[in-house]
Amino acid sequence: MELPKDLIQALDNVETICVLTGAGISAESGIPTFRGPEGYWAKYRPEELATAEAFLRDPVLVWSWYQHRRDALVTAQPNAGHRALVRIEGAARRFALVTQNVDGLHRMAGSRNQFELHGNIRINRCHNCGSEIDLGEFHFQNEVPRCSCGGMIRPGVVWFGEALPAQAWAAAVQAAESCDCFLSVGTSSLVYPAAGLPQIAMKRASLVVEINTETTPLSAAAAHHLRASAGSALPAIADVLEQRSADPV
Ligand code: OAD
Repeated sequence: MELPKDLIQALDNVETICVLTGAGISAESGIPTFRGPEGYWAKYRPEELATAEAFLRDPVLVWSWYQHRRDALVTAQPNAGHRALVRIEGAARRFALVTQNVDGLHRMAGSRNQFELHGNIRINRCHNCGSEIDLGEFHFQNEVPRCSCGGMIRPGVVWFGEALPAQAWAAAVQAAESCDCFLSVGTSSLVYPAAGLPQIAMKRASLVVEINTETTPLSAAAAHHLRASAGSALPAIADVLEQRSADPV
């Protein structure tokens, strides 16, 4: 896609980039988003599937849902948006990628300095003692796996009402505070605290660019709202940044 000329000019001065991604970046890999008519929350209620209370009430139902989501990931591959972020990391002086996604596709694409705010669906941990547990090729059928401490093992994601991983959150805030360009990509900007990161960046007069196929609560406040898919807008941004690195000073 063609970027606005003033954005191309502004990108010329950018050295430190912080990116926040949400479910929209993985939509082009065939993974459903949460909100919207085709999203998970149109069919299921978050409080029945994505809370600790739901897990304690009906662990089989919650496990079945996460197994269904894991199954969908078996063949999922990073898309042009994920790959462009790897190029953007290579072209920036400093770069941090903060994601609300649990699908691990950024890592699979090759992003290095990344922070998963909502954990990772491919990991398991004990709901009681918190230990990370390797279940090998485990595939949930009917029996909830148990830790040696006796606690129930659960997917390693963060549920509504749970604290974000402290180190990842501290790194995200630090990256938002110190960047001169903040990209908000494929997120509804509705779920806090992650949705507050662009505001932190704006306090520093950082260049905030939103990439989203729809408008969100962030759109009006962002310096640029690119109403486009991540897979078309991010490669265009990567092209500009790489061209800049290649140009003689
Ligand atoms: P949502 O599903 O709420 O929002 C996805 C956003 O991506 C929407 O604003 C879409 O317009 C946009 N979008 C869709 N396809 C796109 C594309 N190809 N390119 C660019 N944008 C696109 O997902 P999140 O905002 O990430 O939390 O949701 C945040 C959290 O709420 C999730 O991590 C999850 C959810 O409930 C938990 O489960 C704790």
